[in-house]
Amino acid sequence: MSASNPPPAQQRRSALVLYGSETGNSQEVAEELGALTERLHFKTHVADLNQYKPETLSSYTLVLFVVSTTGQGDFPANARSFWRSLLLKKLPATFLSGVSFAAFGLGDSSYPKFNWAARKLHKRLLQLGAEEIHPCGEADQQHPEGLEGTFIPWFTRLREHLLDTYPLPPGLVPIPDNVQLPPKWVLQLRDEAEGFSTPEQTTEKTNGSSELDRLGHDLRPLPDTLTATLTENRRATAANHWQDVRHLSLTVPEAVSYVPGDMLSITPKNFAVDVDNLITMMGWEADVDRPVTLVPGPTLLSADDDDMPSPPIQGLDSYPRLTLRALLTDYLDIQAIPRRAFFATVAHYTDYEMHKERLLEFTNPEFLDELWDYTTRPRRSILEVLHEFDSVKIPWQHAVSVFPIMRARQFSIASGGALKHTAEGGTKFELLIAIVKYQTVIKRIRQGVCTRYLAVLQPGSTLQVQLQRGGLNSSVNQLVGPTVLIGPGTGIAPLRSMIWEKAAIVKAYKEENPGVEPPIGPTLLVYGGRNREADFFFEQEWEELGELVRLKVLTAFSRDQKQKVYVQDVIRENVSLLFKLLHDMRGSVYICGSSGNMPKAVRQALTEAFQHGPEVETDRFNEQGAEQYLLGMEKTGRNLRILVPVKRVIDYAVKPRVNKANTGVETAGVKHSLNPFDELSVEEAVRLRERHTKKQSPIKVDQILALSAGGPKCADTLRTAMAMGADRAFHVEVGDSPDGGPEPLTVAKMLQAVVKQENINLVLLGKQAIDGDQGQTGQMLAGLLGWPQATQASKVEIKDESGTVEVTHEVDGGVETLRAQLPMIITTDLRLNEPRYATLPNIMKAKKKPLEKKTLADFGIEDKKRLKTIKVTEPPARQGGGKVEDVDGLIGKLKELGAL
Ligand SMILES: Cc1cc2nc3c(=O)[nH]c(=O)nc-3n(C[C@H](O)[C@H](O)[C@H](O)COP(=O)(O)OP(=O)(O)OC[C@H]3O[C@@H](n4cnc5c(N)ncnc54)[C@H](O)[C@@H]3O)c2cc1C
Ligand SMILES: Cc1cc2nc3c(=O)[nH]c(=O)nc-3n(C[C@H](O)[C@H](O)[C@H](O)COP(=O)(O)O)c2cc1C
Repeated sequence: MSASNPPPAQQRRSALVLYGSETGNSQEVAEELGALTERLHFKTHVADLNQYKPETLSSYTLVLFVVSTTGQGDFPANARSFWRSLLLKKLPATFLSGVSFAAFGLGDSSYPKFNWAARKLHKRLLQLGAEEIHPCGEADQQHPEGLEGTFIPWFTRLREHLLDTYPLPPGLVPIPDNVQLPPKWVLQLRDEAEGFSTPEQTTEKTNGSSELDRLGHDLRPLPDTLTATLTENRRATAANHWQDVRHLSLTVPEAVSYVPGDMLSITPKNFAVDVDNLITMMGWEADVDRPVTLVPGPTLLSADDDDMPSPPIQGLDSYPRLTLRALLTDYLDIQAIPRRAFFATVAHYTDYEMHKERLLEFTNPEFLDELWDYTTRPRRSILEVLHEFDSVKIPWQHAVSVFPIMRARQFSIASGGALKHTAEGGTKFELLIAIVKYQTVIKRIRQGVCTRYLAVLQPGSTLQVQLQRGGLNSSVNQLVGPTVLIGPGTGIAPLRSMIWEKAAIVKAYKEENPGVEPPIGPTLLVYGGRNREADFFFEQEWEELGELVRLKVLTAFSRDQKQKVYVQDVIRENVSLLFKLLHDMRGSVYICGSSGNMPKAVRQALTEAFQHGPEVETDRFNEQGAEQYLLGMEKTGRNLRILVPVKRVIDYAVKPRVNKANTGVETAGVKHSLNPFDELSVEEAVRLRERHTKKQSPIKVDQILALSAGGPKCADTLRTAMAMGADRAFHVEVGDSPDGGPEPLTVAKMLQAVVKQENINLVLLGKQAIDGDQGQTGQMLAGLLGWPQATQASKVEIKDESGTVEVTHEVDGGVETLRAQLPMIITTDLRLNEPRYATLPNIMKAKKKPLEKKTLADFGIEDKKRLKTIKVTEPPARQGGGKVEDVDGLIGKLKELGAL
């Protein structure tokens, strides 16, 4: 049977399956949903959310969303621009009317913001008038049966619901599971006339040193990667310790910046022995080394250009001499644990009834337990499954649609400060990697695909690595403030990066201020391992850096004594110290390491520290209060990080003149200064800091970042802002233009990027710039970020530690007071404050404050012009007035002018 030529009736049924995925789980789930709707004769598209605009959704019969949550309750990168476009404030409550949807979230309940992305999306879709056709489902990584534990029952109910709600026309039945859906993409031999070498020439020898050579030289054109050279691959655990943990150093020739918490993402390669094994099993020897190309399968051939999905592997076109062997080695995950859909697909490639039946049994939702017991529990790999079902013969042309695409694995960067740079001006990354190797319940030894690959790489090898921003979002003030770092095992990696970063700040301070004690708060590191002798990583460094960064290390080595001791136990033993650092000294806490029980147990121990830690009885929290306090810390990230955009404009006292070409006003030789409304913003930010110092405001101001986009002279404006009290500045270099520089939307998008990058939680903007008088940027920024906004503020008050803000503004006949929660946007108005004059000492100090030069491209923004100035003209000259002698004269004059 073939499912490739559907009858015309189904053309009216269309389904769009959109996913947001960071590491591929949601994508796989979306593909499974796509296969479901295809079997129900919906013309189906599966794509990531960013590829679609919300306004196009209503043209589909139904839209299915699959979204995982990443970071701290965030959307995955490939869903963020879609999400932002849904947040635009101007969207009416009917914007998505006509859209029928169902949503499924992927998350992990050990994170406090469990499934937040899916929940936020669900809420917003309903707010905008979309209709939910099936209740939202939520998968939990902590579920004993993993994601499938919730997905399969949800999937089964959804199928029933779709069949009920969208009945098939008479005579049409769902495509049964035993009928194969045609593959979307297939491999094809390349015409040798194109100049590719013959099979004999390309056949690789796959043993001995050539294998190491192949693994050690990464030629894959992987998107957005840096080519890194491995300079060190050293075992960090004792030789007799059960676990092999490696300390890797990688360098790239370019100078790239990264911060503690950022990650390197590495795509592994398969070993030749496994690839050969598969080739032999499938009988692919004859074609495996011939040049191939990936082309659309039969269903896609008929698609119009607009409907054509992107190929499943990016960059393949530029792979040097692509063969099936190269694909199997470099791109397809033949060692993954097979998902339900894999069994459904391979069942089509066997004629042996017993195997076919058994494979299809695994796809039956009623036998979910069996699937779990056969695959996930013993961590059985695809290769092993194919060994056991040896009658399965997959046509090599279908390899890309049968095997999952190899995913990159993430590793936190363990270097920081002085360790970040090479002597040649390049960048160094250090990683601390636990090589995954364990015995399964069926007593088989399993090895992690990526860590096994990394373990064999020799210094000199090259790898394509992707630098991913995961940042711990610590500002300079947080870095030098009191900190509690909790990181068992390789969770120490990002914390080491932070300690080195602290050391660099202290060293720089000492060099600039000889003899002055650096204002650095204490750091408490709580580290957990198995044995002090075997896996106390970087012990030596802690001794060396201890004094410099005021570091105290507490350890929990679980196996060094009879009774197991973990990091949470050490926290409980030191509640007073923890309370002092986090509450009294308003320090920050960072917990890094695996998900699951550890973060939950640490959180519980921290709650207890707030309950039992204070020396004074009355300072103690009850359990609920302690929990609230922790939530407040998570929500605001503790302190204020304020962004103040400032614009250089023609001074308010100067009368502007239109230029000769009537395209704008004359700027050359005219006095410029800081836009008066922006001056109010800078002043307010500085006052928020001062009020906290005087104990009049509950939240400390960690940093005030001033930003100006414009020509070279903007640097002067920024120095003025810093002389008033801003801590640092970004000068975004944009050419001077007569029409007032980048448009408000461009500025708002740029500010949005800065907010994300710098972890800003309050933006104070002037209500308008007095040159263009557009008065839009603050509002646009609030829309882009989905943050609350209060405009034209005449008073700003931070009400409590959890970040409640009250803003007053004047309205006709009175004042209005708004309350919102940080993060938020505030625009300032005239009566807010009276800006200070920068004093001479402060002007001198401002010269030393950091001013970084940036470009719009650094924030991924183009200076796009959506508006065109047609003409600028002077207002008509005012007529001179006349004087009248008395009231009679006035009445006479008014009559003369026809006004009476
Ligand atoms: C943001 C982030 C940062 C990370 N940083 C680091 C880091 O700095 N250092 C580091 O070492 N790791 C780090 N990890 C974890 C690291 O990504 C994984 O260890 C890595 O993906 C393993 O890849 P692999 O291909 O070798 O293993 P895979 O082939 O992907 O196999 C891993 C799988 O094996 C299973 N498994 C592992 N051990 C066992 C066991 N004992 N019993 C049963 N099943 C088991 C797990 O379920 C896991 O799904 C980080 C992960 C994330 C998400
Ligand atoms: C760095 C990181 C942060 C995460 N943050 C959250 C979170 O805040 N809330 C949540 O429910 N799950 C969180 N998760 C769990 C993921 O949502 C879950 O692992 C999911 O299966 C990932 O799907 P994906 O492969 O489609 O990205 C996080 C996972 C990682 C690795």
